[in-house]
Amino acid sequence: MSKFILSPSILAADFTNLGESLRFIESKKADWVHIDVMDGSFVPNITFGQPVVSALRKISNLQFDVHLMIENPQLHISSFVEAGADLITFHYEAAVHHHRIVQQIHNLEKKAGISIVPSTPVSVLQDILPFVDLVLIMSVNPGFGGQTLIPRCIEKIAQLDELRSKNGYNFRLSVDGGINNKTIGMAVDAGADVIVSGSSFFSGDIGIDRK
Ligand code: DX5
Ligand code: ZN
Repeated sequence: MSKFILSPSILAADFTNLGESLRFIESKKADWVHIDVMDGSFVPNITFGQPVVSALRKISNLQFDVHLMIENPQLHISSFVEAGADLITFHYEAAVHHHRIVQQIHNLEKKAGISIVPSTPVSVLQDILPFVDLVLIMSVNPGFGGQTLIPRCIEKIAQLDELRSKNGYNFRLSVDGGINNKTIGMAVDAGADVIVSGSSFFSGDIGIDRK
């Protein structure tokens, strides 16, 4: 397995003690923390928003990898940057003017990511790939932690990895959903270099204790 960035998702953390969860992430030498923002419309669940990101920013220097699973992400870019996001990933399916949103994020000097759900093919990303810092492949239908990875999504990682090397693009490739000890290997082998893990990370199942 080659090197990858681990981005534990606090969706699986104890919400009564998020500060302690960040300490746990830091103790495992993870590089980033993945923050799942859901609006109850783009996805059926509602999680947390800018006030929580801002509170966590005060107690941690981890890279805040903010995953917006919300409609109209363009309306909330500046407030999430203000709250402390380092990287903002929005959904292809939730927006029309993808390039404009990427510019919005870059103008605020933050990294921009784009994500696709399992029903969306890689081909739709063709025009935006040269401009993004990260592509996040959802390997479950977004909305909940603890689901089973859909194997077909791993092929999308390989497709994007090929496009990346063929065209000399610089984006990172992230995989999100159902990553555990059994599935992490195939994701990394396909070319993923950012691994998001919620339930397996917090249950200790993923067994990553990085130096
Ligand atoms: C799902 C979220 C994921 C989730 C992953 O909609 O985007 O980030 O936390 O959780 P696990 O690792 O439990 O599948
Ligand atoms: Zn996520």
